[in-house]
Amino acid sequence: MVNESQKSPQDKSHRIATTDDIEVSTYLEIAKEIGGEQPAITEEAVSGAEREAIIVLDFGSQYNMLIARRVRECQVYCELLPYDTPWEKIAPLNPKGFILSGGPASVYAPNAPLAPAYVYESHLPVLGICYGMQVITKQLGGKVTRGTKREYGYASLLLSEVDSPLFTDLPESTPVWMSHGDKIEEMPPDFTALAQTENSPFAVIGNGTGIYGLQFHPEVAHTPEGATILRNFVYHVCGCKKNWTMGNFVNESIAHIKEQVGDGKVINALSGGVDSSVVATLIHRAIGDQLTCIFVNNGLLRREEADRTLKVFKNNLGMNIIYVDATDRFLNRLKGVVDPEEKRMIIGEEFIRIFEEEANKIGKVDFLAQGTLYPDVIESVSSVSTASAKIKSHHNVGGLPAKMVLNLLEPLRYLFKDEVRLVGKELGLPEEMVWRQPFPGPGLAIRCIGEVTQEKLEILRSADFILMNEIKKAKMYNQLWQSFCVLTDVRSVGVMGDYRTYGYLVAVRAVTSNDAMTADWARLPYDLLARISNRIVNEVDGVNRVVYDITSKPPSTIEWE
Ligand code: XMP
Repeated sequence: MVNESQKSPQDKSHRIATTDDIEVSTYLEIAKEIGGEQPAITEEAVSGAEREAIIVLDFGSQYNMLIARRVRECQVYCELLPYDTPWEKIAPLNPKGFILSGGPASVYAPNAPLAPAYVYESHLPVLGICYGMQVITKQLGGKVTRGTKREYGYASLLLSEVDSPLFTDLPESTPVWMSHGDKIEEMPPDFTALAQTENSPFAVIGNGTGIYGLQFHPEVAHTPEGATILRNFVYHVCGCKKNWTMGNFVNESIAHIKEQVGDGKVINALSGGVDSSVVATLIHRAIGDQLTCIFVNNGLLRREEADRTLKVFKNNLGMNIIYVDATDRFLNRLKGVVDPEEKRMIIGEEFIRIFEEEANKIGKVDFLAQGTLYPDVIESVSSVSTASAKIKSHHNVGGLPAKMVLNLLEPLRYLFKDEVRLVGKELGLPEEMVWRQPFPGPGLAIRCIGEVTQEKLEILRSADFILMNEIKKAKMYNQLWQSFCVLTDVRSVGVMGDYRTYGYLVAVRAVTSNDAMTADWARLPYDLLARISNRIVNEVDGVNRVVYDITSKPPSTIEWE
């Protein structure tokens, strides 16, 4: 890397000073943290004696994952499990209460899913949400009928039993989000109505022994006090302690990995992204050199990305890394290919081939580490048909386990993305790295429209580096889900000085999103867009026009491809 004093004045005006880039300082920060605080492994954490869980039994509502997230945000461990999960699987989790989720069924339909007997026989607190409330009503002797019209949208909740532990810190009236067809006509014996809305006299019911039902959805953002109600349930009704912290998770996880792996060998495909970095760091903390990371440079990474990733994990963190520069192999196979799906297939296939070749050189390996997250696990285990449930293999290394006979080591499989980032912080990775924006597995190949060539990749890298640099200088990086450049295959006429140019069109894409399922184009300030555009056309040879993508997802996607 050229440092400031080595550059000629001309270089200075055209070259992007990498030391300005926050990502560089990120890596320097990591360097300082190498020896950093390693969390002490307390006996308490290792024994797991303290771990308590709230179990959400899944009846199929689209909001179910949110319930688990809201509970975890209370620092209480929570798992979302199919409604018919046997008690033997639940007991080891040390359950302190159940939440019966919403769902699309009708309790009076034949074969309607109901709660297993242990939910009531355990005498643990139960909170039924929407369909879950109807399940409680039916099973405990009340009556549910089909509503004459579906109630959907906001309603105003009026509390009648303000002293209920469920209502601590709640105003007497608050908006709630309704989405139900059936309704409670008669409460089960010993239940009373604790709150109502205009259309639902039984909007909240309870029986005084810790069994509650909510007609509305407390887990969605449309119910502003919903998180307070869930918090009240887990703390004041179930008596849970706040012990689901990422510090405890790291301790438990390190102990667990040591036990699981023993003196075996683990391989991991390192990409430099958040998940694979956290997986690698966590496993490395647990078993050190028994872990080997394979880092394949497919030639489709952003500027300096391969060097920086290597520096961090090999030099700074001292990991065992096999680095393969496979740029030529990938680019040769991509020659003449314009179809985006074909590009993806080629890249995936080549990756697996190289990964296998390298893994075979290591000798006997026992485990393959993967950055599978909890949403992948939940999505792949359908609550309605557990029999046909399949575990999805990881996005970026799909296909590996089928070909290689290895045990999977998935230390993040019970974590949500935001928890993975917190674990990263807990492990001493600085915020800038932990909050990195997602980068697709097939890399720049899908952001280079049409044929992928070395020349086009260089143009894209230069433009993208400028964009990232300006976004970070404007302190907008963390507010955006993603921000990047696309090199289109459109060329147009321009004028530069006295010359006519015929150059590429670069598109800038910046979006806000919570989960990439939907996204909105970011309202970047005009001045920032102007700086980005000016710098790209002035500093990147071959580009004479920049446009900003103002479409949301749907109907567009985030990437162009
Ligand atoms: P789209 O373009 O479908 O993208 O709106 C949604 C999110 O997924 C990312 N993406 C990928 N991530 N491997 C990944 O790890 C991939 O092959 C891949 N393709 C798209 C994309 O960047 C966006 O965040």
